[in-house]
Amino acid sequence: MVLGVAGGIAAYKAVEVCRRLVDAGVHVAPVLTADAQRFVGAVTFSAVASEPARTSLWDAPEPIPHTHLGQSADLIVVAPATANVIGKYAAGISDDLLTATLLATRAPVLVCPAMHTEMWEHVAVQENIATLRRRGVHVLEPEAGRLAGGDVGAGRLAEPGVIAETALALLAGGIGALTGVSVLVTAGGTREAIDPVRFVGNRSSGKMGHAVAREAARRGARVTLVTTTTPVAPIAGEIVPVESADAMHEAVMAHAAGADVVVMAAAVADFRPKAVADQKLKKGDGVPEVVLEPTIDILSALGRAKRPGQFLVGFAAETESVVEHAAAKLRAKNVDLMVANDVAAEDSGFEVDTNRAVLLDSTGRALELPLMGKDALAGLILDRVADAVAKKEPQQA
Ligand code: CTP
Repeated sequence: MVLGVAGGIAAYKAVEVCRRLVDAGVHVAPVLTADAQRFVGAVTFSAVASEPARTSLWDAPEPIPHTHLGQSADLIVVAPATANVIGKYAAGISDDLLTATLLATRAPVLVCPAMHTEMWEHVAVQENIATLRRRGVHVLEPEAGRLAGGDVGAGRLAEPGVIAETALALLAGGIGALTGVSVLVTAGGTREAIDPVRFVGNRSSGKMGHAVAREAARRGARVTLVTTTTPVAPIAGEIVPVESADAMHEAVMAHAAGADVVVMAAAVADFRPKAVADQKLKKGDGVPEVVLEPTIDILSALGRAKRPGQFLVGFAAETESVVEHAAAKLRAKNVDLMVANDVAAEDSGFEVDTNRAVLLDSTGRALELPLMGKDALAGLILDRVADAVAKKEPQQA
């Protein structure tokens, strides 16, 4: 991967992007513009990257560095991309190593703009961005936040973690087992309001669902994550925040028809207060009686609406007779793969980073897995998903 760094204050964040991608196993070749080196020295990138940073068309180790880099790259990421580099790229100008490399490649390109709000919103920049998008260039929009000089507004470079995850997803897009597959994931425990400040909830942290969403994106899937909790590490995909079972049901149903795979890792409340008080219940008014009513079973609704070829993964949280109860849920909810775990065990289930699961499939096979990290379990679940998706394809042809 070529990491192009242009001359903006956010160039220092590109060091972190580089480190994260190298940690993830990517071979990163940095290319710095002359102005980038006013902010960060080439030595810093050379120390962190997989090969020495290149800074010029004329003093690189090989005679024609732009064609070498452009032809050998699987992906080019420009972070930060200044208004100047974006303008030159859109106009087809190649007056330095970075812009020449951008024109000398057929690899996908991810542009991560960073500049002051006035520049970002300038019609010239917006038209250049639109031109690049039309040509198939990926653009990771800048965020709103604190800018150089203390100003606040749109134009801040996307977080390094988000850039790295997006780059990994694009790299996987060429080779990943879930390339082009759309995966809908739910995560976290729902909160059912009693009054404006109190709720009935459960102890789910969302870690398992977030791990599945992150891993699916890394394997090239188009991910939509419907979640009640904010992921601690970035995920490349659409994030839909929700709170209640009702809101989760609505969000899932809005996205389910277009999903090839749905993974229901959320701990959805089975009951919610029948009446929600408009105002905070006061202590002085005595102990309230909270009457509960059932919520919709989202997974059952998905199972009933499942279209041919769609793959449904459920989770079963059990405290006894784990396999028997999970197998019954698999049949009742028309699920293809059930991930059962004993949530009463200390190293498994809610709030911890590890899980001890049994994978049950619709043929009745049960695979008991050892204790492992939730990331590793996410990988095994997605291996099964990838197998099912691969089997589906010949039938469609
Ligand atoms: N689930 C759901 N909607 C609900 C309840 C559960 O979609 N209202 C989903 C969960 O996301 C999970 C699966 O159903 O994938 C099993 O959830 P679990 O809590 O283990 O089972 P329940 O069906 O709620 O049964 P019980 O509480 O009696 O064990």
